[in-house]
Amino acid sequence: MKDLAEEKITMELLHREGLARIGRFQTPHGYVDTPNIMPVINPNIRTLSIEKMKRMGMQCLITNSYIIRRSPELKEKALKEGLHSLVGFDGPIMTDSGTFQSYVYGDVEFKNRDTVQFQIDIKSDISTILDIFSTPENTYEEAENAVNETKNRLMEVQDIAEHANISGPIQGSIYMDLRGKSARIMSDSPASYLPIGGVVPLLEQYRYGELVDIIINSKLNSDFSKPIHLFGGGHPMFMSMAVLLGVDMFDSASYVKYARDDRMLFPEGTRDLSEIVELPIWSPLYDKYNAREIKSLGKEERKEALAEHNLFAIYMELGEIRERIREQTLWQYVESKARSHPSLMVAFKKILTYSGKIERYTELYRKSPFFYFDELSSSTPYGERLKKMGRDNCRKVPKRYCLPAGIDGKFTGQIYEHSRENFCFPFGQIMVPVEMEESYPVQQSIATDRIPDGYEGDSTYNLEQGKTRDFNLEKLRFLSDFQFGEGSGRILFPDNVRIDVSKKTGRIRTVRNGEKIMATMRAHDGYLALTIDGAMILNDAFPGMKNRVKVSEESAAFNSQGKSVFFQFILDADPDIIPYNDVIVIDPENRVVAVGKALASGIEMLQYKKGMAVTINHHITVS
Ligand code: GUN
Repeated sequence: MKDLAEEKITMELLHREGLARIGRFQTPHGYVDTPNIMPVINPNIRTLSIEKMKRMGMQCLITNSYIIRRSPELKEKALKEGLHSLVGFDGPIMTDSGTFQSYVYGDVEFKNRDTVQFQIDIKSDISTILDIFSTPENTYEEAENAVNETKNRLMEVQDIAEHANISGPIQGSIYMDLRGKSARIMSDSPASYLPIGGVVPLLEQYRYGELVDIIINSKLNSDFSKPIHLFGGGHPMFMSMAVLLGVDMFDSASYVKYARDDRMLFPEGTRDLSEIVELPIWSPLYDKYNAREIKSLGKEERKEALAEHNLFAIYMELGEIRERIREQTLWQYVESKARSHPSLMVAFKKILTYSGKIERYTELYRKSPFFYFDELSSSTPYGERLKKMGRDNCRKVPKRYCLPAGIDGKFTGQIYEHSRENFCFPFGQIMVPVEMEESYPVQQSIATDRIPDGYEGDSTYNLEQGKTRDFNLEKLRFLSDFQFGEGSGRILFPDNVRIDVSKKTGRIRTVRNGEKIMATMRAHDGYLALTIDGAMILNDAFPGMKNRVKVSEESAAFNSQGKSVFFQFILDADPDIIPYNDVIVIDPENRVVAVGKALASGIEMLQYKKGMAVTINHHITVS
């Protein structure tokens, strides 16, 4: 086992979709792939064997140090042989502190510092402070006291936290400013792991709308390098929404608790065993029993069987969620899941109210097409981005005429070039500037009603005899202004540029200024890819950090040869960088060394400490 100090948890970002991520973090007993769950193990009662749980895919677990410490036998064994030997599991183990017991049963007899020290002594991989559980019923003052006292308790073990993984729960009840404050306190502290606490009553009551508020206000005020855990959030119904909002980890005793009550978990809800006639084919019980046979098992055997089914349902859902993030269709999954329960629809509509905030973490484009279902799709982060583009652009141009229904393709260009007006067209409920016609998500979408019922558009715009302007050039400038900063379009693409188009499709391919290529237009997402020459021009024209990532001298030497930028070498970054947009990589002297694809937003760039931040497309050193 390596030194604990060497192993302080930090998230490595591997795949993303908005705030959702697939990541990995290292602990002294191995790594954890996220999103993931820590099944709750009661050290006194074993329902499923560790072997069986490992076969289901269990990578880590959580147990309670309070229960261990209260039992002289367990305590002695844990102190002597270590927690991992006590539990019989050699992977990552997190311990909780007894906070939940004090919420359920009243005060616990142990103090904060010795509770943490005990967890360290038994070699827990992640130890939890004795935080103050704030309930949804708390007054503001009570919740504020819980946040402040939880902070004091973290400060009390600050010296321990410098060398070990301490979990610092985010409290604050249903008060969003307090959740934000608590998240900032814990992010700025040496706690390396951040659970969202005090939410079990909300989860039990299906109050998913309030949970959305809590999760997002906690996440957006947290350090992206620290895993976010939802305490008690192990029901497969809500997991995809939680992950969409940035939750990485769950824990759950529900697989046993529900089994005890003869209840079975399914991806979209819970069923009573008594009501079940057919077992689902995916259930691990399917090959062994039929529903009638399970009902006739003895109490203990039935509990074990149902616990196995329930845990399997959770792992199955997590597998689906991870696959969705890899293919970047988690949003669509959540959208369809919202239809399975009214409380989930309430939550989904609540998520949409945060689309404006989530937009800045949303990729420029995605691997998968954008599904436009109905007016709710207009309020997704991509919908909000399109609306914002329209709004920002409207400040520059006084009016945009809505193109009459039925006009598209080359007619758009003809009208545009024979007019001095500005135009837009409907994309569902959103009016999109025509310059965006080829770009994600407009072109790369599958829509139910691209043109809303009854839409006619305007026909009052003026047409001129001759050609007034070049549609392709204006399109390039529009995209550049959006991608690389207001005003960059005219700098990168002056009037005399040469635009090469594809002979087959007529679409823009490369843009040259004299002999130098400034940018190319990517076929798959309809956005611009910068060249080194283009980057040099922008770097000279725009002072400051606009769309730039500044790296250390040491990193610059590698990046200038085409090697990726890693987070730990970033000195500064434009906070407005959109993930997947092209960024300019500069050295400490502000010289361009490369151009590449940002794998994270500007806000994240300065927070992650591990993993790849920019993949390089062009670099100054040609080998
Ligand atoms: N388990 C469920 N909720 C909580 C919480 O808020 N704090 C701790 N420490 N454990 C929990």
